[in-house]
Amino acid sequence: MERELALELVRVTEAASLAAARWMGRGDKEAADEAAVTGMRIMFDLVQMDGIVVIGEGEMDEAPMLYIGERVGMGVPPQLDIAVDPLEGTNILAKGTNGAIAVLAAAPRGALLHAPDMYMDKIAVGPECKGRVNLDAPVRENIVEVAKALDKLISEVTVVILERPRHEQLIEDARRTGCRIKLISDGDISPAVAAADEASGIDILMGIGGAPEGVIAAAALRCLGGDFQGRLMPEDISEALRAKNMGISDISRLLTIDDMVKSEDVIFSATGITDGELLRGVRYFSRRAITHTLVMRGRTGTVRKIEAIHQLDKKPLFRDNKIKLV
Ligand code: FBP
Repeated sequence: MERELALELVRVTEAASLAAARWMGRGDKEAADEAAVTGMRIMFDLVQMDGIVVIGEGEMDEAPMLYIGERVGMGVPPQLDIAVDPLEGTNILAKGTNGAIAVLAAAPRGALLHAPDMYMDKIAVGPECKGRVNLDAPVRENIVEVAKALDKLISEVTVVILERPRHEQLIEDARRTGCRIKLISDGDISPAVAAADEASGIDILMGIGGAPEGVIAAAALRCLGGDFQGRLMPEDISEALRAKNMGISDISRLLTIDDMVKSEDVIFSATGITDGELLRGVRYFSRRAITHTLVMRGRTGTVRKIEAIHQLDKKPLFRDNKIKLV
């Protein structure tokens, strides 16, 4: 993939973020999601690529835009797999709390795992801890290994876990080690990526969240040299069949980062919608808005943080009522 593509994809997550940010705290997650999807979809049309959405808003009959199998881009090479989450953290944005982002990953065709919309058990760590953790190891062992790899006391290691009843045992096991724990309400992509950023204060993400979010986080960690392991957790036979139909023959297999993202030639872009550990949210000034984006290329390992000032009156995105101004 050409390096210029990374900047094109920044525009795509910026558009989703700018479209969704107006819905902050308004309690309407459907409207916010629709705005993010529309913003992202419009901007994709301007990108020189032949993309197929492999992780998106759902199946064709469930989602009008950015559905799995939809072609995006101008239809010219390169041929890419595209994974999108136009609004990661719908509840977060509806309440106006921390950590909503617009995010995507792009990789050569066939390189991204077509993860079905089901749960995945996950562990994510930064580069220093690569090779030191194992999804199947006891919680204590993983936390001790991370502490050793980072040269920290266990009481200095921070583990992020989604606060859910299904994580009662995990939280108890983690608490027993004496580590620091951050329970989050939603949005496990950001903390997985933050685990690879020393300054974020987050060292590990653990627990069960969405499988599509898992693949997107794996793409980011592939760029950052971190590690991500996952295992699909189908809740019933129909989910298991769905995974098989999507090409995952052994559902119970531990998926490595390389299984989820088969090429290092991957691009990840995320734009903040509300403030978070990883990115600042959208800020408005007189007819202007500022966005913060993290964009990375796996091939070179370059990490860029882009602050953009958008002149809202001049943005084609908001002309002709493409995005409703609320
Ligand atoms: P949204 O789809 O509402 O944005 O939620 C995202 C998310 O919080 C993910 O980050 C996480 O992986 C998953 O949902 C957790 O699912 P659940 O809320 O069912 O526990």
